[in-house]
Amino acid sequence: MSQSKKSQSTPSALWGGRFAEATDTFVQRFTASQGFDRLLAPQDIRGSLAHARMLAVQGILSKTEFEEIESGLATIALEIKEGRFDWRVDREDVHMNIEARLTEIIGETGKKLHTGRSRNDQVATDIRLWLREAIDVICAELTRLQEGIVNLAGEHTDTVMPGFTHLQVAQPITFGHHLLAWYEMLERDFGRLQDCRGRLNECPLGAAALAGTTFGIDRNMTAADLGFDQPTRNSLDSVSDRDFAIEFAAAAALVGTHLSRMAEELVIWTSAQFSFVTIPDRFCTGSSIMPQKKNPDVPELVRGKTGRINGHLVALLTLMKAQPLAYNKDNQEDKEPLFDCVATLHDCLRAFADMVPALHPNRDAMGSAALEGFATATDLADYLVRRGLPFRDAHEVVGRAVAHCIAEGCRLEDLALETLHDFHNNIDIDVFEVLTLQGSVAARDHIGGTSPTQVKAAVAAARERLAGRLTADREA
Ligand code: ARG
Repeated sequence: MSQSKKSQSTPSALWGGRFAEATDTFVQRFTASQGFDRLLAPQDIRGSLAHARMLAVQGILSKTEFEEIESGLATIALEIKEGRFDWRVDREDVHMNIEARLTEIIGETGKKLHTGRSRNDQVATDIRLWLREAIDVICAELTRLQEGIVNLAGEHTDTVMPGFTHLQVAQPITFGHHLLAWYEMLERDFGRLQDCRGRLNECPLGAAALAGTTFGIDRNMTAADLGFDQPTRNSLDSVSDRDFAIEFAAAAALVGTHLSRMAEELVIWTSAQFSFVTIPDRFCTGSSIMPQKKNPDVPELVRGKTGRINGHLVALLTLMKAQPLAYNKDNQEDKEPLFDCVATLHDCLRAFADMVPALHPNRDAMGSAALEGFATATDLADYLVRRGLPFRDAHEVVGRAVAHCIAEGCRLEDLALETLHDFHNNIDIDVFEVLTLQGSVAARDHIGGTSPTQVKAAVAAARERLAGRLTADREA
């Protein structure tokens, strides 16, 4: 190729050696990721430092060269932090932006940083580092929400509300018990996120482009330096799979699903028809036309944002499903869904963690609602079973009593003993104790039951578990 042709269109300085012409400007924009993957800059710099330090220890770089790289990267970190860094689309992504800038700052030595490394193992490392930190921040918010839930449950171990199945009144329960169901969902979510963190915490550095490197690198050293448990075991797998991001998104989708279910209950409970709970004004908004309106926007938005998180999970699964080994550019598409998944989930958790401790439960409304809908019908059937009737027959007897009450427009506990005898003669005056709400909840006194005694114990156990989690955190 003639000199003049070469000067007309200059290929990228970073990989342009074999190219005859510069990248089309649209293609440059289309293939670039610097607009979003710059979020990985702190992790990218950390990874580069660990890599360069290892190269120096192995004698692949000199000590002076490492120090130059170290100081150049520190300058870049500052430039980025202060918003002075000149992000360039012609430098494609975060990795090449930083490397090219390093060479501008420290000169020739900057070009040695990429020895024994590829952007493929570099980006795989960066995302793992980034996601590991993100999981820690998310788990802290999740823990804060669980604490809020448990504290509220502790104040309502004997507040009675109707429990529902099919959203129809089923049996009386305590509000504390209902809240602890939320706590349990989140407890499993926490476990899932921790499992994901444990599995992703392996270091891909050293896998290089796909096959490893010809240099005498020390993968244990870079892994330890970056706080990974160990290096990954297979170089092809290291640069190609994003299963850890998918796994996170799946765990996030479940957290979102749980938050959405809680949100749905809050929306129902705050309606005028229920009035079980009031959300403080600062978490609500009004209507531009209806002056009386106070809308539960925060729960509604959390419910809505779950759709987004689920969408990211599907995007990541679909991104991965047909990729042959090893790295493919498709993987560049992992970042936006993953970043938004983290940001969205974090915001949802924060909103709930702030809002839940501020909720005002309305004991009276819950209690009155529990009196409607024959919530203690099962208690009456159980009473008859204790008096020798087979359960199926007791069910039939109580069913007829309920039908009678519906016709009369009264409650079971309003029936006179004589009237109850019309349905079965083996009923005594003590039946009225089992028909009360307090009697009903107190009777369910076993592990996982709704009795105030059990709920108090469950609150204490949950508090202990949360405290253990926080201690483990401090020790880590
Ligand atoms: N920006 C790329 C990504 O996010 C970095 C890896 C590029 N590797 C490559 N061989 N083009 O995946």
